[in-house]
Amino acid sequence: MQYNRMISILKVTCMNLKKSVVLITGAGSGIGESLAEHFGQKGSRLFLADRDSEAVQRTAEGLKSKEITDFETFCGDVADERDSQEMVDSALRKFEKINVVIPCAGLIRDGLTISIDKETRKVKKKLSLKDWSSVVNVNLTGSFLTIRDCAEAMANGGWPSLIVPIASVNKAGQIGQINYSSSKVAISLFPKILVGEFLLKKINNIRVVGIAPGYTKTPMLEKMNQSILEKLIKDVHLQRLIEPKEIAILIEHIVENEAINGTTIEITGGLCHQSSVVK
Ligand SMILES: NC(=O)c1ccc[n+]([C@@H]2O[C@H](COP(=O)([O-])OP(=O)(O)OC[C@H]3O[C@@H](n4cnc5c(N)ncnc54)[C@H](O)[C@@H]3O)[C@@H](O)[C@H]2O)c1
Repeated sequence: MQYNRMISILKVTCMNLKKSVVLITGAGSGIGESLAEHFGQKGSRLFLADRDSEAVQRTAEGLKSKEITDFETFCGDVADERDSQEMVDSALRKFEKINVVIPCAGLIRDGLTISIDKETRKVKKKLSLKDWSSVVNVNLTGSFLTIRDCAEAMANGGWPSLIVPIASVNKAGQIGQINYSSSKVAISLFPKILVGEFLLKKINNIRVVGIAPGYTKTPMLEKMNQSILEKLIKDVHLQRLIEPKEIAILIEHIVENEAINGTTIEITGGLCHQSSVVK
């Protein structure tokens, strides 16, 4: 009897991908594009945003070729406050609700904070303010705006909702990525902070669960120094890159399991930092 009551409560509160409205930024490439395909195949209704209009159009063509048609595309900059609001307004005009938001828009601009000339031992180069700001603006401020504006709609609408901030395993502090790692460690704290705020204000329809992927097979990694990447993969137990599809499967599980909340989950293939250990 008690068990039956539990099952019926679960049916009321659990989310399902079918017919859920999923808003994805950075949907023109990599992880965002793969999530669009995976969730589209599961029957979700998709709102796909990217700054690069050709890229998001390519994603749209890919979806159509797989007979996924229940989607809308949007071109805008996640770091622009007006674009962010317009994105949410457009999603609501089209679908009248947002259930899942996954802010995938992101970029890297790697470099050492200061670089020394081997001969003179003097500093020959500094990480530019532009390379610092562009990464922090898109990865951190952009994610904040997407999440804030979607959370406003979700709280007002009262729909069953999930926010999935995208951190990275490099939140641990990757040499040569002071900009990227700083943005990602901050993102990894979003779930705990937001769920705490929602609890405080009795907003009980929105869960927040972050993802911290390891090295994942996307165009972003093609921009990394490939010899450094090869060395990094030596420290991964699986000895390969993560597939974006594996991240989609993890998020699908999170959508359907409401006990997962207020935390950031790593998906790395088993990153061990072995090569720095003296053998
Ligand atoms: N690939 C990895 O190994 C990896 C690992 C951990 C975390 N991540 C994170 O996953 C997310 C997606 O990464 P990816 O590998 O798919 O990258 P990607 O480069 O393949 O795709 C990123 C997309 O974001 C879009 N974008 C960039 N700036 C934007 C802006 N200002 N407004 C709107 N769209 C913008 C780009 O046009 C692109 O389509 C990023 O947040 C990244 O930091 C990636």
